[in-house]
Amino acid sequence: MKKLHVATGNPYDIIIDRNLLNSCGTYIKPLTKANRVMVISDSNVFPLYGESIKKSLENTGYQVFTYTFKAGEEQKRLSTINEMYNALADNGFTRKDLIVALGGGVTGDMAGFAAATYLRGIDFVQIPTSLLAQVDSSVGGKTGVDIPQGKNLVGAFWQPILVLIDPNTLSTLSDKLFADGMGEVIKYGCIKSRELFEKLERLNANSIIDDIIYDCVSIKRDVVQNDEREKGQRMLLNFGHTLAHAMEKEHNYSTLTHGEAVAIGMVMMTLASEQNNLTPTGTANRIARLCEKYSLPTADTTPIQKIVRSTSGDKKSAGNAISLIILKDIGCSQTYKIDKKDLLQFIAPKDKM
Ligand SMILES: NC(=O)c1ccc[n+]([C@@H]2O[C@H](COP(=O)([O-])OP(=O)(O)OC[C@H]3O[C@@H](n4cnc5c(N)ncnc54)[C@H](O)[C@@H]3O)[C@@H](O)[C@H]2O)c1
Ligand SMILES: [Zn+2]
Repeated sequence: MKKLHVATGNPYDIIIDRNLLNSCGTYIKPLTKANRVMVISDSNVFPLYGESIKKSLENTGYQVFTYTFKAGEEQKRLSTINEMYNALADNGFTRKDLIVALGGGVTGDMAGFAAATYLRGIDFVQIPTSLLAQVDSSVGGKTGVDIPQGKNLVGAFWQPILVLIDPNTLSTLSDKLFADGMGEVIKYGCIKSRELFEKLERLNANSIIDDIIYDCVSIKRDVVQNDEREKGQRMLLNFGHTLAHAMEKEHNYSTLTHGEAVAIGMVMMTLASEQNNLTPTGTANRIARLCEKYSLPTADTTPIQKIVRSTSGDKKSAGNAISLIILKDIGCSQTYKIDKKDLLQFIAPKDKM
């Protein structure tokens, strides 16, 4: 068992262990005076793991209710949250009761947002089941939904009281979704840990995934602990993301997964910073080789002008400036502010200008 403590305003622990699902009640019990627990999950994950969670919670003495929504990002919207409120209110949930989020990032973001807002905030526990959710979205307290104008535009910062990561759940994840999560894993190596990056180069992540999850979560923990509300250092986690968001949008959030877009974004941004003499030559190539090793793409056919135009709506851009995240080297990142009008010049390959 591995345990990490997150010292945010409302501190909590992250526990990583195999078979955690079957004993989740034991870990939750000391942290809450809840009578009722609402397990929120999606239509893929609940049939796989819902019953073991429910059984463990019932054995611990909780009255357990469940709310399951149809799997998919399209459901990450306010109407689904509304249904969650109904399920909570209809079953008499009070402020001392508890929500458990069982699933990927969509489940965690929505269950967390329902927890942040129902009765002005009730406790919730994250039990992430996708690689992306285990290494990224379950830690840090960002919750929310999409609206037609954009992804994650409505939400709240709301920390869970506990995160339980059971790597056994990854056995039912498709290869594509595993690769998707690896995009974020590689990102952590790039921005904060040359050691992790080299481990990913040397070994097969799948066979040491418990260690890899621990490495990633401890990096994210350190970053969010220092910058809970994303005012500074937390922005480093967005390495590759400004371009990724633009590409995902250009692909209508369908043909390109988030992790795939992040992989391409990291390579593109590093090629750009190399040609602007901010990053040692060869870094982008090394990132690209690692992405390929984990079945991630490293280039996109969308014209660079289109990608750059699309970044202007990015949440991380303020006024005329845009904060790019670039690597000083593998394992060491920094923010680099440039004028939006110079972005195309910065990114476009010099030989194609
Ligand atoms: N809050 C944050 O800080 C943060 C960070 C990154 C991403 N996100 C959000 O996370 C979401 C993406 O997360 P995701 O990729 O986990 O999406 P997801 O929750 O939709 O999961 C992807 C798919 O995998 C399935 N799945 C999950 N676990 C499984 C398992 N163990 N076995 C079989 N199938 C499983 C789901 O049912 C779904 O079909 C996006 O909405 C994104 O905005 C949030
Ligand atoms: Zn991401």
